[in-house]
Amino acid sequence: MERTLSHEFLRVVEQAAIATAHTMGQGDRHLSDQVAVEEMRKVMDTLEINGTIVIGEGERDEAPMLYVGERVGLGAKNGDRTMPQIDIAVDPLEGTNLCAMGAPNAIAVLAASERGGLLNAPDTYMDKIIVGPSCKGAVDLDAPPKDNLRAVARRLDRDVEDLVVIVLDRPRHQKLIDDIREAGARIRLIGDGDLSAGISAAVVGTGVHAVMGIGGAPEGVLTAAALRCLNGEILGRLVVAKEGQRERMEAMGIKDLTRIYSTEDLAPGKKIIFAACGVTDGNLLKGVRYFGEGTRTSSLVMTLEDHKVQFIDTVHLEKRPDIKVRFF
Ligand code: FBP
Repeated sequence: MERTLSHEFLRVVEQAAIATAHTMGQGDRHLSDQVAVEEMRKVMDTLEINGTIVIGEGERDEAPMLYVGERVGLGAKNGDRTMPQIDIAVDPLEGTNLCAMGAPNAIAVLAASERGGLLNAPDTYMDKIIVGPSCKGAVDLDAPPKDNLRAVARRLDRDVEDLVVIVLDRPRHQKLIDDIREAGARIRLIGDGDLSAGISAAVVGTGVHAVMGIGGAPEGVLTAAALRCLNGEILGRLVVAKEGQRERMEAMGIKDLTRIYSTEDLAPGKKIIFAACGVTDGNLLKGVRYFGEGTRTSSLVMTLEDHKVQFIDTVHLEKRPDIKVRFF
């Protein structure tokens, strides 16, 4: 499954990114999101799979496409049961505001697995701590930030002062930010996008050593899928932030709201494909570049069972095969 489908899923995120990047800086996050969703859905339906969306744009009554439970792919469309049954988590545009403002780190992203390989998480918040391979097993979601930072510093053989922690810039994080500052670590506050931040924390050389704080639970599942492939770690606990969410979680079979989910709990699949394509320039991926009739994209495609992490730079010449390709 992984080898053949990873190239197909690459195509899905590339096309979504190419369509969406035209809306960069237009100041309309809803338009950016709509373009990403429509393009991702369109390309997804050309894949030879029986796909089910398990993390998507919301419930069936809230989202016209890529809603949770939606069947996608040629198998679903044509009723062909011989095509592989795949669960898919999508975030067609992670960082809608980032794209609308032309800010860094907006990506088109998805993860796929065999049936049941990705947690069907509710669309709520999740308290998270994310670290890379060297720090696996060293952090505890319930420990004070200073203890976690000391543990990370020890594993990375450096001082706490040498660490960079990414935190979403939100009023709810004021205490966390104060605690990290007091511990002495450096902080990078971001406007949006804790998923791409989480991937950076698991890639040596990005200058990101941990991500802490409360972000989306769906993004937590996608982060976990990436971290399974990168050997990193996420610990997360669902957070009830709005009225009705507790009931909704209970209806989904989530009884213990104190439970801490591990990377494997969030993305238990044996076969996982993770694909992301840069929409705007970012830490790991460049944004979409248009040149005349050609386009260049920068993507990350990872497969768990196949043990491959691929950074893919693609020049798309479909519209004008005679166009000049530049080395850069
Ligand atoms: P969108 O792509 O849906 O705009 O989400 C961006 C994001 O910043 C996520 O990366 C993060 O997990 C979540 O929103 C945080 O939610 P909130 O903006 O409500 O704090």
